[in-house]
Amino acid sequence: MTTLLRIDASARFEGSSSRRLADHFQARWTAAHPRARVIVRDLARRPVPHLDAPTIAAFYGAPVGAEPPAGVALSDALIAELRAADHLLVSSPLYNQSLPSALKAWIDHVVRDGQTFVTRDRRPVGLLGATSASIVIARGGVTSARVDDFETPYLRAILGFIGITRVEVITVEATAHDEAARSQGFAAAIAQVDRLLGAQA
Ligand SMILES: Cc1cc2nc3c(=O)[nH]c(=O)nc-3n(C[C@H](O)[C@H](O)[C@H](O)COP(=O)(O)O)c2cc1C
Repeated sequence: MTTLLRIDASARFEGSSSRRLADHFQARWTAAHPRARVIVRDLARRPVPHLDAPTIAAFYGAPVGAEPPAGVALSDALIAELRAADHLLVSSPLYNQSLPSALKAWIDHVVRDGQTFVTRDRRPVGLLGATSASIVIARGGVTSARVDDFETPYLRAILGFIGITRVEVITVEATAHDEAARSQGFAAAIAQVDRLLGAQA
């Protein structure tokens, strides 16, 4: 069965442009894949904790006792969701030129040696090459000549690290600007989603 894994990262539930655009993406995607399963992981409603020392030790081979650290079980569950996904949809705001810590905490639990990547000849090899991804990012400003979005290149890099190299990024710009700019920014993002999913349908 085709599976979409949706990860939401905005701290806002009301008025969130990234969630709104992801809703549109999900509706279009499920219309194109009517028998698909959708798994939603909302990192604001159910935050993933920061990695802790026992979890890191267990990741890197420390003997796990009768009671493995809770972080390992959580990481196992998050990785199982990711492995089950044919397509990953990440919706996220741009916070302080980068990604929200809620999303980084999820990444720290799913990028795991021996699980989502392995090291061969001293080089990392991603294991999730069968998965594709769409990233929806909302930002208050607009992209300028000055680099002020470190989230987009980072997400491309870290997904690539675990083998997810087929990645499309859709950015909703100007969400903090006036109504005319906001509407224009949202319409452009919707059109991009429709082009992408229209091409798949
Ligand atoms: C803590 C914080 C930091 C932000 N930093 C930036 C930024 O660096 N660049 C930018 O263009 N917008 C920034 N914004 C604006 C958000 O990206 C914008 O409100 C976006 O629409 C949030 O996503 P959402 O609508 O899905 O909640 C910031 C907002 C917050 C709350």
